[in-house]
Amino acid sequence: MKRFRQYRTDAATRDKYADVRVSVTDFIYPYFIVDGENEVQPIKTLKGISRFSIDQLLIDLKETIALGIDKILLFGVITDDLKDEVGSAGYDPNSLVCRAVRAIKKQFPNLIVFTDVCLCEYTSHGHCGLLKEQTVDNDSTLPLLAKIALVHAQAGADFVAPSAMMDGQIQALKAILKQQNLTTKVLAYSAKYSSNFYGPFRDAAGSAPSFGDRKSYQMDYRTSQQGIEEIQADIEEGAEWVMVKPAQTYLDIIQRASVTFPEVPLVAYQVSGEYALLKNGAEVGLINEEQGFLESLTAIKRAGANFIITYYAKDFVRKGL
Ligand code: PBG
Repeated sequence: MKRFRQYRTDAATRDKYADVRVSVTDFIYPYFIVDGENEVQPIKTLKGISRFSIDQLLIDLKETIALGIDKILLFGVITDDLKDEVGSAGYDPNSLVCRAVRAIKKQFPNLIVFTDVCLCEYTSHGHCGLLKEQTVDNDSTLPLLAKIALVHAQAGADFVAPSAMMDGQIQALKAILKQQNLTTKVLAYSAKYSSNFYGPFRDAAGSAPSFGDRKSYQMDYRTSQQGIEEIQADIEEGAEWVMVKPAQTYLDIIQRASVTFPEVPLVAYQVSGEYALLKNGAEVGLINEEQGFLESLTAIKRAGANFIITYYAKDFVRKGL
């Protein structure tokens, strides 16, 4: 008989044998930005998360940084009247995200800023690419994604993070960054599955597709090897960091990616629906919030993620986890 219980006798012993520990530097904290001033708009479906105007974002960042979080991911949220068929608001050099990045970098130059590069936040139809008839066209979307990345990079983003799931998007971004001599890195949303867990985000970002779904460009969750191939392609196209998304229900993909590409930093996105289910489950007394999140985030790290995008980052530190 092999005796295992000796590793679990008391808290100190359990701590000693724990070989996975989530820490604050693993986190990338998402922010939704809106135009205007003095705007702090709580998002009903994402309890504890608000949309901020840039002035309020700068105030909130003081707290975030004081908590030890050093990486953030920005999403621009604009009103419908500013959206058009081709997502022009996204690649305006004076876009909401660009103005936010410049303001952040001026006040907090050491904060590592990631920006989401996609069309869905800026198109009237809410799809992640250009429409040709009723389908999302791959190749005509690439130059637009590259333009969004370019203005974000010029504003001072450390990483641009394309999430549109168009083939060749990493190559398109890398080419324009190189051509402009920008050192901005690319975090590729590589294995991004078409998931039922993005609902609260689309509400937060006003980016739900006005018709159809995203199944023709985001991955089918019945595929496994394809996730690895998507990551491989993005690395070959020059992505510095790669991502698996969602996280909690995709631990197998995270594990495979970390084993297959040990040298490439791997990010996992605990997405809005995953966060909201835990949060709401805790609220109605089904689970303990702190312990539930700690377990979930630890599992994501145990699977092999080097970094975790999570709406829980601030609470994690606040609650002393
Ligand atoms: C934009 C984008 C989405 C998310 C991140 N970037 C929504 C989508 O693909 O529909 C989801 C993030 C979350 O659910 O927290 N394409």
